[in-house]
Amino acid sequence: MTMKAKDDHIIVIFGASGDLTRRKLIPAIYNLYKGNHLPVNFAILGVSRSNLTDDRFRSKMDDALKEFKPADYKGYEKDFIDRLYYVAINTEDYQAYGAVGDKLTDIEKLTGIKPNYLFYMATPPGLYEIIPKGLAAQNLNSQEKGWRRLVVEKPFGRDMKTAVALNVNLLKYFTEDQIYRIDHYLGKETVQNIMVTRFSNGIFEPLWNRNYIHHVEITSAEYIGVEDRGGYYDRSGALRDMVQNHLMQLLTLVAMEPPTQINSSSIRNETLKVLQSVQPFQPGDIASNVIRGQYLASRIRGEQLQAYREEKGVNPNSRTETFVALKLYIDSWRWGGVPFYIRTGKRLPTRVTEIVVHFNPTPHKLFVFNGERFNSDNQLVIRIQPDEGILIKFGVKLPGTGYNVSEVNMDFHYSDFGNIEIPEAYQRLLLDCIQGDSTLYTRADAVEEAWKIIDPILKEWRENCDLQVYGYPAGTWGPQVSDKLVEGENMTWRYPCKNLVDDGTYCEL
Ligand code: BG6
Repeated sequence: MTMKAKDDHIIVIFGASGDLTRRKLIPAIYNLYKGNHLPVNFAILGVSRSNLTDDRFRSKMDDALKEFKPADYKGYEKDFIDRLYYVAINTEDYQAYGAVGDKLTDIEKLTGIKPNYLFYMATPPGLYEIIPKGLAAQNLNSQEKGWRRLVVEKPFGRDMKTAVALNVNLLKYFTEDQIYRIDHYLGKETVQNIMVTRFSNGIFEPLWNRNYIHHVEITSAEYIGVEDRGGYYDRSGALRDMVQNHLMQLLTLVAMEPPTQINSSSIRNETLKVLQSVQPFQPGDIASNVIRGQYLASRIRGEQLQAYREEKGVNPNSRTETFVALKLYIDSWRWGGVPFYIRTGKRLPTRVTEIVVHFNPTPHKLFVFNGERFNSDNQLVIRIQPDEGILIKFGVKLPGTGYNVSEVNMDFHYSDFGNIEIPEAYQRLLLDCIQGDSTLYTRADAVEEAWKIIDPILKEWRENCDLQVYGYPAGTWGPQVSDKLVEGENMTWRYPCKNLVDDGTYCEL
């Protein structure tokens, strides 16, 4: 990241005493500051209900920086910490937002910063209606004196209806080009690299279609359980928490047509088209095309792991899914008939996110592998995290007599770049917003289109009590039935390990 933002600005964080602010936002802003990406004149204003002074807020954020250790933070770096301010308001009362305006004016008088404001809603979604209204009541949405941008965190609704209502409400007070819906997956360097790999190479794109690709897998696995987020998660589940947003983004980047230019509207128009082309799920197909599971207690590496239903904040009879695997099709000339398999879950054997493109087998099986006819399954693995990189699997001749084939790997790891640091997702996204670049933010129409895909599944799960929630022991790759989703002789999911080049069902355990 070499760009430097030019405009003076104040970042106003609502939910300033919350976890996101401590863990992600303040460390990301600090990194931008340290990396010399911010202008000389900038400040941060924290807003929340807790009664804090500027000094108390500064010392809390200093603690957070010490705990999360962004770029060699040495402890109380005055030049950064002094840029932090705080105002306490009753955030639920839209008339209370006058105090935010007053504090902004005070900061401007004190520092000479020109009034460009980035409003960040790091709050529970219940406040997404009130904050924009409160800001508008103080004319803080008006761009007469400087730019005003509003960052919204997921969840963007919990179904199509509530997502539309959220968009309608946001658009009452801010215009679409002022609204930045954040999906932190788009801030990941390796996610952005999907487009670069596809469109900066002549070797992949000619093969990137139904004539050469057999199927595509997208996996995002986590080893952790729901931790202390049981209350939130139990009302969400894996489909809403991961598939509707992050995994749909990965799908769009893998399946999109080349954009005409690298800019916000070209790219977002193309990704939208993918979502519009996903074949709608029919109620009768959901049982066979969408598998949901929930983790059960299990003992792993000597550690006893709780069942999901025993986690804090979770209903002991919960039917919320902690695992989903699904198969979908994209109705387009490029992808007609190619299955896309998407899988995500908590308490799987390892933390890994990757895309595996499987190419068609050769039409004539000439060679032998392990005494049988060799059936090629060339794969291109795009590893999002960890051990970020790219892997190609192909066959070569095993040295010796005859023509035995061995499958080998060709791999690139981001770590090969040496000392270049991969910036944290929030860092990149915040800088883009400060610079007014919305390419990596989600547009209203895409959010709604993604819900359109998910809604029939949610409806069927809600209405058809016979549809199973399969249990799976914590630390396994989800319910075994999810293996049956994958079509084709001897075809199954790739079971990735921490290292890009390895695979095998339980390599981490
Ligand atoms: C969040 C989900 O959006 O993404 C979490 O709410 C999940 O449940 C997280 O753990 C995963 O993000 P990452 O960057 O660790 O893959």
